[in-house]
Amino acid sequence: MAMGFVSENHQILSKIATSDRHGENSAYFEGWKAYDRNPFHPTKNPHGVIQMGLAENPLCFDLIEEWIRNNPKASICTPEGVNEFRNIAIFQDYHGLPEFRNAVAKFMGRVRGGRVQFDPNRIVMSGGATGANELIMFCLADPGDAFLVPSPCYSAFGRDLGWRTGVNLVTVNCDSSNNFKITKAALEAAYEKAQEDNINVKGLIITNPSNPLGTTLDRETLKSVVSFINEKNIHLVCDEIYAATVFSSPGFVSVSEVIQEMECNRDLIHIVSSLSKDMGLPGFRVGIVYSYNDAVVNCGRKMSSFGLVSSQTQYLLAAMLSDEKFMESYLAESSRRLAKRHAIFTKGLEQVGITCLTSNAGLFCWMDLRRMLKEQKTEAEILLWLKIINDVKLNVSPGSSFQCSEPGWYRVCFANMDDDTVDVALKRIRAFVDQGKRGADHSSTPLKAKRPKTNLRLSFSSRTLEESVMSPHMMSPNSPIPQSPLVRAT
Ligand SMILES: Cc1ncc(COP(=O)(O)O)c(C=O)c1O
Repeated sequence: MAMGFVSENHQILSKIATSDRHGENSAYFEGWKAYDRNPFHPTKNPHGVIQMGLAENPLCFDLIEEWIRNNPKASICTPEGVNEFRNIAIFQDYHGLPEFRNAVAKFMGRVRGGRVQFDPNRIVMSGGATGANELIMFCLADPGDAFLVPSPCYSAFGRDLGWRTGVNLVTVNCDSSNNFKITKAALEAAYEKAQEDNINVKGLIITNPSNPLGTTLDRETLKSVVSFINEKNIHLVCDEIYAATVFSSPGFVSVSEVIQEMECNRDLIHIVSSLSKDMGLPGFRVGIVYSYNDAVVNCGRKMSSFGLVSSQTQYLLAAMLSDEKFMESYLAESSRRLAKRHAIFTKGLEQVGITCLTSNAGLFCWMDLRRMLKEQKTEAEILLWLKIINDVKLNVSPGSSFQCSEPGWYRVCFANMDDDTVDVALKRIRAFVDQGKRGADHSSTPLKAKRPKTNLRLSFSSRTLEESVMSPHMMSPNSPIPQSPLVRAT
């Protein structure tokens, strides 16, 4: 009966509607279900699952709330601001409010240390970085064309870049032998392989700072990436939505700086930005495409009709982002709090013998549990992951959901909870590791077991991202499951 219903839908619905490229039909949904069935609460459900799969940044919400209280005129839903209600309510122009574009351009420059200036006329709006990434694909590639994506990468890229556009993704494999650096050799190998397979590569997309690694690209790497795409005459999309989450040195270097220092065809360079991570506002759905290509700006602006930022949101944010004093102190305090949280969390892990890739940005750590795997295989990674969810009751994310081809890495978010919840999570990890040391069967080997070879050389493959399962926890900046509560400990 149910089967008949499905095949009937295949006949009456579109290929996009019935395709699996949204990525939500995967075994990884189990982690979210486990969290949803049993969400942690410090008093009401202290043995519940702690959500560590959510890259959110609410650590400075108190500062934003204070600003909102002090600036009632910036909201149109206050007695002080209601006079602007009519103007804002009718505003429908897809160019966006001029003051919003000016404020965003200034914000982007500030986050990049004032070393680059952004032209407000190149700011194209979209519904979050999700919408921005899809919009730029629609502008640059046709169905069946491909984009190169270094792995490990943001696991919703399959959906965001490919589901509705028909664009395919080709993995550029990076590995731990050089801290997952994006090398020219890896780029060349993936490109060559795609050519052999008759795949038309239109561009390369990178995230800087990286999700899931929490690292920034150094100037030399960025230069070699820019020269690679120039040689091939393909596009470069830089997803820089974690730019303001950099909390320690080395500082952030944006592609916008690098192209000031070298010869390159700027028509090939496009930046994606958002306020979802930098300001912790994923619910506001502010995504930006900043392209150096006039045709892309023109076409992208028309396309932005499909995913505009509400003018109410633009209005509020224009005032907030233009408040120089507030922004300066907000950004400084945000990186101070992220640095503190990162230090507490990684030190806690170190005390039980768990290391993470050294990182300086992001809202997560890239945790190395390779020596806890029974064998160096994805199946073992998933087994351990299930154990962590079901027994330790932490919803972390396995490396395979980020297309990491080296098993045993897990992404753990540390910013979406309060200090006490971090403490509970660390205590649970400690108990789990101690249990392993005592020889209990974790479906994995205890931590004292032999380390695997770290210089694993991985072969480059041109498999597309959607060939492998994606983790639903990354399908959306928030839970993909309706009514999934993010438990915020009080
Ligand atoms: C690298 C990357 N790009 C895009 C997104 C989507 O962000 P937004 O909430 O702005 O749509 C995310 C969210 O986690 C991300 O990590």
